[in-house]
Amino acid sequence: MITTHRVLGDHRGQLVALEGANSVPFDIKRVFYIFGTQPNVPRGNHSHHQTKQYLIAVNGSCKVTLDDGSENSTYDLNEPNKGLFQDAMVWGTMHDFSPDCVLLVLASEHYDEADYIRNYEDFIKEVNA
Ligand code: TYD
Repeated sequence: MITTHRVLGDHRGQLVALEGANSVPFDIKRVFYIFGTQPNVPRGNHSHHQTKQYLIAVNGSCKVTLDDGSENSTYDLNEPNKGLFQDAMVWGTMHDFSPDCVLLVLASEHYDEADYIRNYEDFIKEVNA
């Protein structure tokens, strides 16, 4: 689900404020950002057992495809005030990055490789279990 956040702007420029457990639907434990991507090279291609994520293209644009195991949707992240929620147990792929894209990701858990599902067949098995 994409949310368009209010932009607090004045003659000095623009500002978007996001709060954990409020405008972002979880407490934020981790922040990472992706940049220096290439237009034809997707990233992601995994889901998480527990981790929820909130994705914002704070500069440039990209697309994100989310797949819950029964249907998938592709979202355009092309404004710095648009945020996309990716729930746990949802397969996500980021693609079609603009050269200047900086994709900010807010996460509900600390980094833990054991929380990743990197094999799509394993994901489908687990989501249907
Ligand atoms: P990876 O999961 O492959 O990135 P993407 O989701 O964009 O496909 O992560 C790249 C590397 O960074 C990998 O070695 C794991 C490491 N990493 C961390 O150490 N901490 C983190 O919070 C994240 C997201 C990745």
